[in-house]
Amino acid sequence: MKTIAIVATGGTIAGTGQTGKAVSYHAGEIDVKDIIRSIPMLQEIAHIREYQLMNIDSNEMSPQRWLVLSNYINQILQDDEIDGVVVTHGTDTLDETAYFLNLTLHTSKPVVMTGAMRPATATSADGPYNLYQAVCLAAHDDAVGQGVMCLFSSTIYSGRDIQKVNNFKIDAFEQKSFGCLGYMQDHEVYFFSKTFKIHTINSLFSKQTLYDLPAVGIAYFYAGASCEILYALAQNHQGIILTGSGSGNYSQEWLQTIEDLTKQGIVFVRCSRVAQGIVFDDDIFDPHHCCIPGNTLTPQKARVLLMLALEYTHDHQKLREIFNEY
Ligand code: SIN
Repeated sequence: MKTIAIVATGGTIAGTGQTGKAVSYHAGEIDVKDIIRSIPMLQEIAHIREYQLMNIDSNEMSPQRWLVLSNYINQILQDDEIDGVVVTHGTDTLDETAYFLNLTLHTSKPVVMTGAMRPATATSADGPYNLYQAVCLAAHDDAVGQGVMCLFSSTIYSGRDIQKVNNFKIDAFEQKSFGCLGYMQDHEVYFFSKTFKIHTINSLFSKQTLYDLPAVGIAYFYAGASCEILYALAQNHQGIILTGSGSGNYSQEWLQTIEDLTKQGIVFVRCSRVAQGIVFDDDIFDPHHCCIPGNTLTPQKARVLLMLALEYTHDHQKLREIFNEY
């Protein structure tokens, strides 16, 4: 039998509220030991080692906590007896942590994130079954080398592309137009696709221990949005992710401000507020190609990548290459 480490960080999977109810609860209350005890069939799948690293609502996650989590998991993975890791996490910011870990964990061992939409005290809580399947996935040979994965509602998602698309249903995640990596049926694992983007052991960002990250902010464009938003962010951020309309677009006033701030050394990445699609270079909205196209990354994932990339380089061409490769 394989040995799987469960690293708990909190979230709704560890949440408690009024018995039976699914809303108005506190995330991050129950100890991981108690969650594991509620799933006896886990013992038939793997030897479990549990680590309660944090017990927070994932809205309290931060770049500093990402670093603590990533360095902690990297250390656990160095133990030859550990075959894979499952991370329990709140669903609200799981997409950001998943991408961060996908870029910073130096391993080819399976790492699977999961959580729940209903607290542990709800009728038909979804957490225990998600955790059971996440452990089965982390213990499966086919999961080796796939990068950080996420498991929800019997569906396997890539840490790069997972997005929360529903704030109510238990089937709350998608992977843009890329479908998913695969499905599970109880403990059975069925992979159907693979990510081609660089991750985990091959990632530049997993090759050394990081202790700090540069500040990167996100500016959301809307009809009539003032360029003061950009000037305000530029005061204490090295990079700004633009959440543009359509294909990553904005007004002429924003364009002028972006060009001015680029000359002052601020790095811009263009993303879109539209849920599906891709952002390429654009000769109309960015005639001097000041901005790096965010491709298929959501603004919050582009922020993760830019924070890591700026730790290594400020060279515009290298940053563009990183956004194409990761
Ligand atoms: C959280 O993200 O910690 C709360 C919400 C959830 O886990 O679904």
